[in-house]
Amino acid sequence: MNRNLIILALACGSAVSALAAEPAPNGITLPEGYKDWRLLSTHFRTDNNTIRAVLGNDVAIKAAREGKTNPWPDGSVLAKLVWKAAKHEKWETAMEPGAFVHAEFMTKNTARFAATGGWGYARWLGQDQKPYGKDANFVQECVGCHTPVKDSDWVFTHPVKLP
Ligand code: HEC
Repeated sequence: MNRNLIILALACGSAVSALAAEPAPNGITLPEGYKDWRLLSTHFRTDNNTIRAVLGNDVAIKAAREGKTNPWPDGSVLAKLVWKAAKHEKWETAMEPGAFVHAEFMTKNTARFAATGGWGYARWLGQDQKPYGKDANFVQECVGCHTPVKDSDWVFTHPVKLP
């Protein structure tokens, strides 16, 4: 085969794998188009100095606007995007998102995820979106920490109030 063709084929192969993140160990795939979802809320964690944006897909945003979030309807997907807080270089008391830490998701499907309160959990680490967890048991960690909000359908986020 022509050497240039081989190089081209290799280059395309690596470009494709860089775009498509591997599924999480429990089979959940990175939700398509999540970067275009709308805002539900933001959080700032003082213990690890991170800024978080919580976004929802269309089903979740509609439920939030109608106040129908306990329980959230099937089909809702909540995304949490986490960045290290960084000082704005022109205004040092203004904190802005710096290095990307991870993206994580809760997908509501009462039947499929009955064992974990109706939510499927998944997380992808860093800029290269490496799936988190050695095996499917990683979800126990997620569920364990979300147990204090069991009564609000396992969700911490209070959708923001808008004018
Ligand atoms: C150490 C405790 C802890 C663990 C472990 C944890 N979470 Fe959370 N999670 C929180 C807290 C606290 C919030 C709300 C505040 C914030 O944004 O950090 C939250 C919020 C979220 C949200 C936004 C919706 C909501 O409930 O407010 C998603 C999505 C989420 N977590 C997914 C996950 C996934 C997936 C895992 C497991 C890979 C996980 N979490 C593990 C504590 C935890």
